[in-house]
Amino acid sequence: MEQSPHFRASGKIEIYPDAAHLARAAAEQFVALAGTAIAARGRFAVALAGGSTPRAMYALLATEEFAPRVNWGCVHLFWGDERCVPPDHAQSNYRMARETLLDRVPLPKENIHRIRGEMEPTQAATEYERTLRVFFSAPGELTPRFDLILLGMGADGHTASLFPGTAAIHERERWVVAHYVDRLSAWRVTMSPVLINAAANVTFLVAGEGKAGRLRQVLTGPYQPDTLPAQIVQPHSGRLRWLVDAAAASLLSDHL
Ligand code: 6PG
Repeated sequence: MEQSPHFRASGKIEIYPDAAHLARAAAEQFVALAGTAIAARGRFAVALAGGSTPRAMYALLATEEFAPRVNWGCVHLFWGDERCVPPDHAQSNYRMARETLLDRVPLPKENIHRIRGEMEPTQAATEYERTLRVFFSAPGELTPRFDLILLGMGADGHTASLFPGTAAIHERERWVVAHYVDRLSAWRVTMSPVLINAAANVTFLVAGEGKAGRLRQVLTGPYQPDTLPAQIVQPHSGRLRWLVDAAAASLLSDHL
């Protein structure tokens, strides 16, 4: 099946009937990648996505069906971005993951590397980048190579907290950026494309009809990351996958 050149750069699309099947596929991928990474290097470094789409996946990972299949003692959890709020705030990405997953699996506390949203944003970003540089400081390790980075996509085409029109989209040095997002009237701390594109696996989870138009633009339209920041995600050597439900994929034409 012929794929548009841009689509090839956008990675592999997997379309699932509904959000529940999507969550299951994502949980299965997590288990598989964790097993491979832990067998190879004794640890699995994964960055969680925020928002609402991943909730079902995290909850599934915590069930009796999935949790025993992961060696949680070797899993290190990070976040792709965080709202600048305390960890118990309703908007906190950390809180969402804690409620759905962290409180329900035997993950050592020292393996949870959250972005401290309660701190002054630039300090939180500096501290998080320092944590990452220590974690990934292996001899000859030039850039951090997450085994898996999970991402969502907003209806405006943003991913992590890389929002349209923000300079963070084009960050080339820093691994982590704190910035004030005008459209949210709020500060965010986010991984930069430098960090995201160095990963071994990057998986987008996109569900719902409300994302269909933007998903089509991101995957098949012209390359315009200032307007569609999700397009900046082009892993250098890692694998990019889009796990989407049929509703979000409803405007993707057959040639994909
Ligand atoms: C956040 C996320 C953000 C999210 C998208 C999609 O902090 O909000 O990191 O990038 O993934 O906004 O969110 P939904 O899954 O809620 O649609």
